Amino acid sequence: MTYLVGKDIKLVKFTDRFITAKYIDWLNDQDVNRYLFTGRIPISKEEITNRNDGNNIMFAIMCKLSADGDALVEEEFYSEFIGTISLNGIDWIIRKGEIGYMIGEKSHWGAGIATEAVKLVSDYALNRLNLHKVEAGVVEGNIGSIKVLEKNGFKEYTVIPDDYWFEGKYYGAHRFYKLQGW
Ligand SMILES: CC(C)(COP(=O)(O)OP(=O)(O)OC[C@H]1O[C@@H](n2cnc3c(N)ncnc32)[C@H](O)[C@@H]1OP(=O)(O)O)[C@@H](O)C(=O)NCCC(=O)NCCS
Repeated sequence: MTYLVGKDIKLVKFTDRFITAKYIDWLNDQDVNRYLFTGRIPISKEEITNRNDGNNIMFAIMCKLSADGDALVEEEFYSEFIGTISLNGIDWIIRKGEIGYMIGEKSHWGAGIATEAVKLVSDYALNRLNLHKVEAGVVEGNIGSIKVLEKNGFKEYTVIPDDYWFEGKYYGAHRFYKLQGW
């Protein structure tokens, strides 16, 4: 069930069919979770719940490119599940939500996928759901993710000090936002 279509990806509703061995591997992969609040404690299939509801919208990111950047043959277009992106904690009165994303398939890092996915979901939130503001948080040092937000017109408004801890050191969290009409 296609919902949002971009140049190299499409976003479909995240349903239980995406809770596969590959997805569980991403959630337990220390590289993928380096800057995330997930992954510290091993998680199994039985512990995963689909968070889609009226205030949380989660998409599976389907890619039409193979890892080496070649377009796949037509019948395989958009066939590869490579990550997830969500709009969480939607407040329909204040009209805001928080965006979060994970490209789990590491062979696809650096190929512009997260930039495209954030564009699709922030446009969707601001222009179709009529939200006033979309926010995002990035742990200090996650350069790729900061670039993804800046390339999508998000502005940084503060750094929350000591908001994350990894291997003996505290890190700040950069807070970003984008308003409708920017
Ligand atoms: C961080 C992450 C989202 C980036 O996704 P991506 O699809 O590789 O990002 P893009 O390819 O769209 O890259 C955007 C820019 O960041 C750069 N970039 C990506 N990863 C980078 C890294 N690790 N270090 C430095 N720059 C990086 C890209 O080169 C690109 O820069 P350019 O436009 O100047 O060429 C992805 O690596 C990921 O999902 N990591 C694990 C989970 C995570 O950290 N999620 C984000 C939580 S806030």
